[in-house]
Amino acid sequence: MGKIISFINQKGGVGKTTMAFNAAFALAKNGHKVLTIDLDPQANLSLLFKAQSNFNIYHLMLNSIKELKMLHVPALLGSVLQRGDVDLLPSGQELSGFDLTVGNINAPRQLILKKFIELNNLKDRYDYIIIDCPPTLGLLVINALCASDGVIIPFRPDDFSLKGLEHFYQVIEDIKDMGIVKAPEVFLHVPNLVDLRRKQESDDLKKIILAIDAQLGEGKVFSPFLNKAGLVKSLSNRKSVFDFKNQDFSELQDKFSGVAQKIEEWSHGHI
Ligand SMILES: Nc1ncnc2c1ncn2[C@@H]1O[C@H](COP(=O)(O)OP(=O)(O)OP(=O)(O)O)[C@@H](O)[C@H]1O
Ligand SMILES: [Mg+2]
Repeated sequence: MGKIISFINQKGGVGKTTMAFNAAFALAKNGHKVLTIDLDPQANLSLLFKAQSNFNIYHLMLNSIKELKMLHVPALLGSVLQRGDVDLLPSGQELSGFDLTVGNINAPRQLILKKFIELNNLKDRYDYIIIDCPPTLGLLVINALCASDGVIIPFRPDDFSLKGLEHFYQVIEDIKDMGIVKAPEVFLHVPNLVDLRRKQESDDLKKIILAIDAQLGEGKVFSPFLNKAGLVKSLSNRKSVFDFKNQDFSELQDKFSGVAQKIEEWSHGHI
């Protein structure tokens, strides 16, 4: 059975898409079959894959809800799925209307993505399904959480991230309290865009790591990603760091291989 892992942070610009994209290619490089799902109406991940399709994950999810028959469109999984070294289910701006569209249905609104994944046996077809989330804690992210086995939180160490993390852990507790699904495990936090030369930032990062250790136990924070021009360059070329051969990229490749290794280790403990 494949594992579903969401990259989540309600704050924008912390590296969710960057990490999801490169971690997916790192896993594929290790021989795994990987699907990415872009659940962000901004569709940044889909842009990285140069996705082009009339229909997207929004349509596939609505098509899986019987009550919304009048909104169904002729979109099949096979025609929306973009195949490559890493497969993609793209997003589109329609996704920004998701909360409103499903607001009045009787079926559980939090479980639409989970049901869609089950209906299409995606966990049997892939080793890993990586979900890139929008910077909110709205219904789309709740759907991602309810569908996921694990969560990775990229974050920038600053004053606000501790408050944001606490709020996020509370949402996980709320999902546990609902009692309808097993809440996912938050197994990795990745400090990103860190400037260790700035004392305030190192101090904030230490505080955050201590708080995470206290909440979840030790070993759940990855070594920091610094501000790397190579990442900006690769993303603007819509390529993963593994597409570049020169020395500049070997450090970034090692880092993302390290993230993939953490994912593999975690999933071996959860068969
Ligand atoms: N380690 C890094 N070094 C340099 N630039 C980075 C790094 N990580 C991310 N970036 C850049 O920061 C910007 C934000 O990253 P990204 O889009 O991955 O964040 P996000 O959390 O997905 O944002 P959003 O919440 O808007 O979806 C991007 O332009 C990306 O190229
Ligand atoms: Mg993003």
